[in-house]
Amino acid sequence: SHAAGLPTIAVSPSQGKFLYVMAKALGAKRILELGTLGGYSGTWLGRALPADGQLITIEADQHHADVARANFAAAGLSNVVTIRVGRALDVLPQLQAEGALPFDLVFIDADKGNYAEYLDWAVRLSRPGTLIIADNVVRKGAVIDEASEDASVIGVRRFMDRANVLTELAGTVLLTFGAKDYDGHTVSLVEST
Ligand code: SAH
Ligand code: DHB
Ligand code: MG
Repeated sequence: SHAAGLPTIAVSPSQGKFLYVMAKALGAKRILELGTLGGYSGTWLGRALPADGQLITIEADQHHADVARANFAAAGLSNVVTIRVGRALDVLPQLQAEGALPFDLVFIDADKGNYAEYLDWAVRLSRPGTLIIADNVVRKGAVIDEASEDASVIGVRRFMDRANVLTELAGTVLLTFGAKDYDGHTVSLVEST
């Protein structure tokens, strides 16, 4: 991914391992990811799947998707990973129409401005027991600034407001500090649909 010039914004190794542990603990067979980049988080998720499992990962940027496809092949994961190239808000209704649901785990990590809509889609494509994890929801504490004009902060704040009114969900924020500075994930269990 670095050699191909992709931005260095993938999850950290320990965050990737966290995704792996969650997927394994759930016995996940169907995983949905929003935001593939070079396939780093997707490789952790793909490695947690059984041989007949499936990771569908959505990526808007054709170059990122091409790099990810090569990385998934190098990781021996071509058989379990499907990259869907397109904007997530276009691809998600297609997945629903195709009947590609429910997912056992959803990882939200694409453009932050649409996170609230992605959360609604994640719930729509879930069953009771599905885990929905979203990246970059703390942003060095910037998300507590209600006057922020940063599009990502505004997007995450909308996402949090949405999460709070979705009574289907029981969630919390897991703060992270390390290779990606001070940030966090939401971890939300779908209790009902
Ligand atoms: N999950 C990756 C990192 C994703 S970075 C990892 O940890 O390895 C965010 C990615 O979302 C970028 O590759 C970007 O091109 C993609 N993206 C941005 N807007 C998008 C959209 N509307 N739909 C789908 N992907 C999008
Ligand atoms: C950015 C996106 C991410 O998903 C992330 O984990 C870090 C940074 C970004 O767009 O800058
Ligand atoms: Mg991220």
